[in-house]
Amino acid sequence: MEFITYDAVEAYITSHLNPYPSPLAEMEKTARDRYIPIVQPETARLLALLAQIRQPKTILEIGTAIGYSALVLANAVPHTPIITIERDENMICEAQSWIRRAGKEGQISILQGEAMTLLPELAEQEKQYDFLFLDAAKGHYSRMFPYLLSLLAPKGILICDNVLSRGMVSMPDEAIPRDNRTIARRLREFHDMLQECTELDTAVIPIGDGISLSRKKEAMIDE
Ligand SMILES: C[S@@+](CC[C@H](N)C(=O)[O-])C[C@H]1O[C@@H](n2cnc3c(N)ncnc32)[C@H](O)[C@@H]1O
Repeated sequence: MEFITYDAVEAYITSHLNPYPSPLAEMEKTARDRYIPIVQPETARLLALLAQIRQPKTILEIGTAIGYSALVLANAVPHTPIITIERDENMICEAQSWIRRAGKEGQISILQGEAMTLLPELAEQEKQYDFLFLDAAKGHYSRMFPYLLSLLAPKGILICDNVLSRGMVSMPDEAIPRDNRTIARRLREFHDMLQECTELDTAVIPIGDGISLSRKKEAMIDE
């Protein structure tokens, strides 16, 4: 991704990835042809590996689109139930059809609605997940953060995509197209939240469009 990694290095990495089997390869083509934003191929591999290492009991994803990353995760950890939140009805229909085609309808459930409504509801029900993947509207990450933190189980991991936003977070405002300045500012606030949160340890990884990887510390035991 321009301004995050060298194009030649990224091209080298992506050209050496083992292609995914059907239907993920077709989904990649569909997303490319119709400009549907899905995780970058190298980010998908990292996501899958992190799930395999962490072996979560449950996964919560925010931002389904056509269901590509949910299926990547479903293949990586075939016994882990995945709940994925999406507000766009057309995307949901399409995701359901790919999920059926992959035979993963028993593993992946789509929660339809606005994440800013659903996340507080889940938090109120005291649900907790040990693997959270945030890949929704970047401008809302900071507002979602308190709910994500309460939904994350101790020792659970939170992965957020697009946190470098084509490198814009690091640029002076004058170098950012006017329409994107608010998103860049909000993402900088989100980085500060992650780093200042004493319940999390966080690293930012310049892969794809930039991901943050956080682990929630074990619960403190009161003396
Ligand atoms: C980047 S795409 C997700 C891509 C998907 N994770 C993948 O890699 O295959 C973001 C999706 O999140 C949905 N979305 C964005 N903001 C949302 C919100 N606040 N609540 C629910 N869905 C949201 C959009 O409709 C879009 O389909």
